Amino acid sequence: MKRTIVAAIAGAFAAASFAVAAQAPAGDAARGKDHFMKGMCYTCHGTAGLGSRYGPQLAPHPLPWEAFAHQVRQPRASMPRYVPQTLSEQDLADIYAYVVSVKPGPKAGAIPLLKD
Ligand code: HEC
Repeated sequence: MKRTIVAAIAGAFAAASFAVAAQAPAGDAARGKDHFMKGMCYTCHGTAGLGSRYGPQLAPHPLPWEAFAHQVRQPRASMPRYVPQTLSEQDLADIYAYVVSVKPGPKAGAIPLLKD
């Protein structure tokens, strides 16, 4: 009985925190671009987040906010770690807004020069 109650409470808490955490905080894409450059993200991920030989593609379909933020705070492999003292939560939210704002390019077939 006690275990059931604990599990129910834990379940409710997990659901509530997921609902809150899954939503990206409001960010400013223009400021985010600035942080993306000053924070050197661009050196590995490209100026528009399209990736390079040093880092994977982030845009135009970035990871969900929670996974994105987690990777920046606790990188899973060789990416440098960014602590809140050097990159605040708001800076990170702005970066996310910038990456989300990158639009996919046109399909190759829609570019007249490539049809010749
Ligand atoms: C020195 C190169 C380098 C820099 C600088 C860098 N990254 Fe990365 N990033 C990587 C590499 C390499 C990975 C692959 C996973 C790993 O190594 O942890 C990665 C993975 C990621 C991922 C996960 C992508 C995915 O689809 O799994 C995100 C999000 C990310 N970086 C965001 C950023 C942001 C935001 C910044 C700047 C604040 C940044 N990175 C700076 C190299 C870099």
